Amino acid sequence: MKKILITGGAGFIGSHVVRRFVNNYPNYQIVNLDKLTYAGNLANLTDVENSPNYRFVKADITDATAMNELFESENFDSVIHLAAESHVDRSITDPTAFVITNVIGTVNLLNAAREYWKGDYNKKRFYHVSTDEVYGALGEEGMFTETTSYDPHSPYSASKASSDHFVRAYHDTYGLDCVISNCSNNYGSHHFPEKLIPLAINNIKNNKPVPVYGKGENVRDWLWVEDHARAIDVIFHQAKTGQTYNIGGHNEWKNIDLINLLCQIMDEKLGREAGESAKLITYVTDRAGHDLRYAIDSTKLQNELDWVPSLQFEEGLAKTVDWYLTNNEWLENVTSGNYQSYYAKQYDNK
Ligand code: NAD
Ligand code: DAU
Repeated sequence: MKKILITGGAGFIGSHVVRRFVNNYPNYQIVNLDKLTYAGNLANLTDVENSPNYRFVKADITDATAMNELFESENFDSVIHLAAESHVDRSITDPTAFVITNVIGTVNLLNAAREYWKGDYNKKRFYHVSTDEVYGALGEEGMFTETTSYDPHSPYSASKASSDHFVRAYHDTYGLDCVISNCSNNYGSHHFPEKLIPLAINNIKNNKPVPVYGKGENVRDWLWVEDHARAIDVIFHQAKTGQTYNIGGHNEWKNIDLINLLCQIMDEKLGREAGESAKLITYVTDRAGHDLRYAIDSTKLQNELDWVPSLQFEEGLAKTVDWYLTNNEWLENVTSGNYQSYYAKQYDNK
């Protein structure tokens, strides 16, 4: 029996990781720790919430005392750490929140792991989930590999880069068994509608403008979120200590091309005339410091751990649109602002 702490499990990627581990490893106990910020939503996990090997703990990783007490009482075997402030635009308006959660929160977890595992790191692993944004921006050519130098530009990516450095420092200094993965842009179900794809789906559905930053020429490398969760599973179980893996879809899209494809899919699904949804495209002021292009070279993961992305983008995007159209209530709840009080309050003072 393994007891695994997954942080940020009520968020977009975390909920897919929790679901995968709860369903695929009935002999593991999965403890999902989440603060339930605006981005955390227990409605993402209703299908596993009553599983005997799943438990939710509402807690804040920035609270060092709470983290120490939790590690002392729970005796975790391993940690998969996803909890973070994740939205670049928010980091531009409030960078400090990103330092506190992404840097100090991560260090609190590292300290708790070091303290309570007491140097016995055999089969005790700290897996840190990070982003390709730590590598900065690419021009027209090239891809990020695991040896690309860090060059973060946004406060979000600077905070993630910093947390990656701390994780490596705890491996190198204290011998903690750490692994890190840096992944490209994810898409799929349960994605909070402030990020490009779910925001655009929601706006197109409601006949609202679809904001495209700058000229829409920035490029992102999109990966199906369940493929990311599978990569995390493989790396968690098979990577050698201290290793880093890049995870990506080999699936680069200019934002404007992606939005046009999405508009076509939405026209078909909503029975609109061809070209109707594209009329909603609205060019707006560019994001400050907007990274031009991300592209991940995941050869190391493919060669060493035999992982490949499973889903073609067009199919994944159509599945994603279907999910949002059939889960209207989820979308309305998370955009109404009331859902947190409903879900989070159940766990207050527990
Ligand atoms: P998200 O914003 O959807 O979810 C983050 C979760 O962390 C939420 O449930 C939130 O409540 C929780 N959280 C935030 N602050 C917390 C705190 N102080 N204590 C406890 N819980 C807290 O984010 P996501 O898109 O699912 O990203 C998850 C992780 O993956 C992040 O570390 C992010 O940097 C990384 N990542 C994301 C992407 C992507 O495309 N979304 C790509 C690569 C890496
Ligand atoms: O690359 C991995 C990263 O991908 C993750 O680490 C981040 O947590 C995640 O949020 C994502 O960051 P991006 O900034 O790339 O994602 P976002 O969905 O915010 O934007 C995608 C692209 O679309 C980006 O070039 C900015 C642009 N954009 C975004 C929004 C929200 C628009 O043109 N209009 C918009 O309204």
